Amino acid sequence: MIEQASPASSPLVPRDAFPLLTARDIAYLDSAASAQKPKAVLDRMRQFYETSYANIHRAVYPLSEAATEAYESARARVARFLKAPSADSIVFTRNATEAVNLVAHAFGSRFKSGEHILVTTLEHHANIVPWQLLCDRQGLDLMPAPIDVNGDLALEAFDRLLERKPKLVAVTAASNALGTRTPIKEIIARAHRAGAAVLVDGAQAAPHFAIDVTDWDCDFLVFTGHKLYGPDGIGVLYGKPALLASMPPWQGGGDMIRTVSFAGTEYADPPQRFEAGTPPIGPAVGLAAAIDFIEAIGWDRIEAHDRALTRYALDRLAEIRGIRPVGTPRARIGIVSFTVDGVHPHDAGSLLGERGVCVRTGHHCAQPLMDHLGLPGTVRASFGVHNDTGDIDRLADALVAARQILAR
Ligand code: ALA
Repeated sequence: MIEQASPASSPLVPRDAFPLLTARDIAYLDSAASAQKPKAVLDRMRQFYETSYANIHRAVYPLSEAATEAYESARARVARFLKAPSADSIVFTRNATEAVNLVAHAFGSRFKSGEHILVTTLEHHANIVPWQLLCDRQGLDLMPAPIDVNGDLALEAFDRLLERKPKLVAVTAASNALGTRTPIKEIIARAHRAGAAVLVDGAQAAPHFAIDVTDWDCDFLVFTGHKLYGPDGIGVLYGKPALLASMPPWQGGGDMIRTVSFAGTEYADPPQRFEAGTPPIGPAVGLAAAIDFIEAIGWDRIEAHDRALTRYALDRLAEIRGIRPVGTPRARIGIVSFTVDGVHPHDAGSLLGERGVCVRTGHHCAQPLMDHLGLPGTVRASFGVHNDTGDIDRLADALVAARQILAR
């Protein structure tokens, strides 16, 4: 039993800051899949489209200049968010997946047959499949680093794989399926000592704790707007400036060139070199608003709220017969994954959905992790700044009701 009021009995940000959550009577526990959008973000995008929208980098009339200014300011805002050395180290993409693919193509083109890439068993498919494709194209070998029984990266085994001198380590800062926070700075330092470049998947980290690419010293980091209370259709690649400058383009088109002729084309410097075609202009403005939104809350408060909600959820789930948490990592973001004895995760998810409880079920785009755990999938509750213990009570009550229905 929970004897004391949890510090998370109120949301960090009131539900009515989110129009959808005001309009619908749901417990939204699926922010890891995609976060709901606060009014502040929707308003900023609407204002931009209504007052300042035009294509960018192409025209000299004032409206286009205003749009270009808004887009490039968003890039500078992202650079500050990541503690990146310069706005030029920020490339806008369609999502985090596209950012990984960009690196796999443009940076990966230098790798040779027989070389290794190291990933971990915790990775999302977005940080596995682009590397498998690269391995197939160029005859490389993909090595998965194992996890321990708690769902933490097994660091000794990781070190042994580093002895094979991988060219690149691609690793998540936080697992989308178990919530595991990896010791990312330590991982990057070990990989660098072994001579590997490091790409960090920051998609799940970005809404939960501060990222500092300068302090972490990662070579690349990707994240996405839609999990950070921003719009979908925009992702970010951070790359160390010298590395970006050394990379060939991966997609061709307008805006990524200096000059084009049939005799030969000269490419623009980064970040334009990697932004072929009209980019996600409005979504970039929305992403900057989302960053303002989350930073105004404060990382200490967000981390404390995550911890309180996670503790409360684990306590409530422990009261329900047949619920088994999956993963007990040393540190985690606001994610709790579990199974329900005798019930397929999708059946549990449907019954919860009928009671207004939104959770993700299944393999969470982490099938190698599920295979390792010997599970077809899990039920995953993931927390955002609008959640409170009432949402978790609703989840627990719905689980009890679902078990009763399934036991009939
Ligand atoms: N990567 C998203 C998730 O974990 C879609 O649900």
